[in-house]
Amino acid sequence: MKTYTLITGASAGIGEAAARLFAAQGRNLILIARREERLQKLQAELSTVDVKIRAADVTDSVTLEHFFTKDLAGISIDVVINNAGLALGRDSFDQYDFQDIETMINVNIKAFLKIAHLGLPFLKKTKGHLINLGSIAGMKSYGGGAVYCGTKHFVHAFTEALRQDLLGSGVRVTTIAPGNVETEFSIVRHKGDTEAADAVYKGFDSLKAEDIADAMWYAVSRPAHVNTELMLVMPTDQAGITVHRK
Ligand SMILES: NC(=O)c1ccc[n+]([C@@H]2O[C@H](COP(=O)([O-])OP(=O)(O)OC[C@H]3O[C@@H](n4cnc5c(N)ncnc54)[C@H](OP(=O)(O)O)[C@@H]3O)[C@@H](O)[C@H]2O)c1
Repeated sequence: MKTYTLITGASAGIGEAAARLFAAQGRNLILIARREERLQKLQAELSTVDVKIRAADVTDSVTLEHFFTKDLAGISIDVVINNAGLALGRDSFDQYDFQDIETMINVNIKAFLKIAHLGLPFLKKTKGHLINLGSIAGMKSYGGGAVYCGTKHFVHAFTEALRQDLLGSGVRVTTIAPGNVETEFSIVRHKGDTEAADAVYKGFDSLKAEDIADAMWYAVSRPAHVNTELMLVMPTDQAGITVHRK
């Protein structure tokens, strides 16, 4: 029976890099994101493994539920990479657009929990591995990021508790917490303002999405008795939220 790695947010950035690396390691993939044409392109490119794609908004819990319980019924999944997420805006909390706040909570917390909840029955069968995307923002908070930082603190706290819930099940759970990674993350956060987005990565060597995919693969490829609980992966020129720019 084929076994699959399921990745949310696989149409760009870290999720896409993870799809490429896991495929290179011979892993069959189930890829989820909203932009279908990007998933189709990736599916065509990663032809050495079996790639299933599903264009879906992860906040659509009815669709997700149907996909996991009906479309994926009987399929073996041994890794779930709970990666889809976003930040919106850099304003002081009192100035924030409340819709942006709700979107971050809906994607980074509610949909994140739904994926974990739907994925765990599969992982319990395979003694598999759940990888959650945390962040340095889940450990250090900064002004203009109150809600995003809060959502990532949630991911860290949730993973810590989940490890205890799953003791004895053989399921491994890892939080990967990156510092600045150059992806579409900043363009999304700055709502298409490329100048503001580029400024985030100016004057220092930020991480690349592939660096985070490597960290995921490290955690997954340890022997079954080793649970890498938390990996904080930072650019050399970033410590905490302080970046050294040339
Ligand atoms: N980049 C960083 O500096 C950084 C640092 C720490 C942590 N992280 C975390 O890493 C994860 C990935 O971010 P990234 O840097 O790779 O950003 P990215 O390049 O913007 O990619 C985000 C991915 O999430 C998907 N996504 C967003 N909202 C979605 C929704 N409602 N439904 C389905 N898919 C959705 C996007 O796909 P579609 O738009 O096609 O739906 C895309 O594939 C996030 O959880 C982020 O918080 C990033």
